[in-house]
Formats: sequence, structure tokens, C-alpha cells
Amino acid sequence: MLAHKQLLCCVLACASQMANGLALPRTPNGNSTLSRDARAKGFGDGVPLRIMPLGASITYGFGSSDKNGYRKDLRDKIEANGNKVNMVGDNPSGSMKDNDTEGWKSYTVDQVHDKADGSVPKYKPNVVLVNVGTNDCVQNKDMPNAGKRLQSLLEALYTKSPKATVILSTLLVNKDPDVQTRVKDYNAQLKKVADQLQADKKRLVVVDMQSDMGPKLEDLNSDGTHPGDEGYRKMADVFWEGLKEADRRNYFVAADKVDGLADDGA
Ligand SMILES: *[C@@H]1O[C@H](CO)[C@@H](O)[C@H](O)[C@H]1NC(C)=O
Ligand SMILES: *[C@@H]1O[C@H](CO)[C@@H](O)[C@H](O)[C@H]1NC(C)=O
Repeated sequence: MLAHKQLLCCVLACASQMANGLALPRTPNGNSTLSRDARAKGFGDGVPLRIMPLGASITYGFGSSDKNGYRKDLRDKIEANGNKVNMVGDNPSGSMKDNDTEGWKSYTVDQVHDKADGSVPKYKPNVVLVNVGTNDCVQNKDMPNAGKRLQSLLEALYTKSPKATVILSTLLVNKDPDVQTRVKDYNAQLKKVADQLQADKKRLVVVDMQSDMGPKLEDLNSDGTHPGDEGYRKMADVFWEGLKEADRRNYFVAADKVDGLADDGA
């Protein structure tokens, strides 16, 4: 009996220590040694994140073995870090739990914009992960105005879901040199658009998929455009860094309530 009681007391004491955060590693002055993103509370003090992955086939996960694309790795990381996550969108894809996306194969910026006009007011996400424009570059579609089209899409996101933080991805490297030239042009236009929106105090973080962390040519499928599994894993890491940056800027706020949408994607 006594042994049981002592054990129970210990269990309770340990549990309360953990609840108070006392079980975390500490520096000599008593501060936690864990970085912000490793704390259990999560981004934005643990606000539930209703995340819309928005774009074309890369958002859909085309070319990944399980069709989860970057989404599962990223979702797992965010949940482990302490936020509830509900992915939202009208075009589910992949074997993962909560496989909703707003990623539409072969869609250009304008076509994704049309989809977003329907789905963003319906789901009111507080996070939108945007990777769009690859098909404009592949099709060589009116490149001088690509930035304007992207700007129009992004402005619609903020109008239709004012609580949204946008993590805006630059386009990935492409194996076709002509497409890669247009991708570079697009990315330069994207950065100007982002500067403008940030000057307008929009909640926007740009993540650079062509940085050292991002997918390399050898991480692409044989089609030269879509990542394979390793490329998608790298995309998840790059988006993750963007979420951390958004948190440092205190961008995350609670999403507007939408009937029928759970906090956790159940
Ligand atoms: C430890 O935490 C205190 C209180 O939050 C803070 O003022 C101090 O700068 C921290 N020290 C270090 C070394 O991080
Ligand atoms: C998405 O997930 C649901 C629930 O697990 C599953 O029934 C459905 O087949 C998945 N959709 C696709 C396209 O993989």
C-alpha cells in the first residue's frame, strides 16, 4: 500500500513539475535552454492553426510517394511543437491524417486565385502556405505581369480572411534552363510584391525555396519540376523556418470561428 502511495505521490509530483515547465533543461540562472520553437506551447502562444496549403500540383503533393508532399512533415512538426492543426482546402490528397489541400494540378496563378475566391471565405484560415506560379513559368504565360497576378491573389487572401498570416514560397529550381530563367524572373517579381505588402503591414513572410535549405536539382523528379520525397522534406523545413519567423513577428492570431471546423483537423 505504502509503496503504491509513494509511487503515486512521485508520479503526481513529476506530473506537476512537468506542467510547471520545471522538468525542462535549465541554464544555471534557471532559464530554459530550449529554443522557442521547441517549447510545448506552440506558435502564437498555442493558438490553433487553421492552415490552407494553396497552390498547384506541388501543394497537392504530386510526385511524392504518398502524395503528402511537404504537408505531413510540416504538420507533424507543428503539432509536436504544441499547436493544434486543421489543414483546410477542397482538394484532399495523400495518406496523411488531415490531408486537405487547396492545391490544383497544372493551375496557374489566376486559376488558383479563382479557387481561393471560393474556398478562403469558406474556411477563413489563419495561415496560408502559398506556392504558386510554376505553371505560369512552364507555360511562359505573360511573365511581365506575373507579379501583378500574384499580388492580386495575395490581396484577395487578406480581404477574404483578415486573420491570415501568409507564408509565401518562392518557386523551386527547375531542370529546364528556359523555365528556370522565368522562375528567377518570377521570384524577383514575387519579392517586390512581398516588399509592397509588408510595407502595407500585411502579415507576410517570404520563404526562399532556392536557399541552401531548399530542394536542389537532384531532389526533383524526372519531370524536372516536381520534388521527390527528399525535396518535399526540404520544402517542409523551409516552410517551418517561415512559421518560426512569423511567430517571432507575433503574426499568429486566432482564426475566425467557422461552424463545423474543428481545431485539430479531426
Ligand atoms: C533569463 O530569463 C530572465 C527572465 O525571463 C531574463 O531577463 C534573462 O535575460 C534571461 N537570461 C538569459 C541568459 O537568457
Ligand atoms: C484523404 O483522407 C481521407 C481520410 O483519411 C481518405 O478517406 C481519402 O481517401 C484521402 N484522399 C486522398 C485523395 O488521398
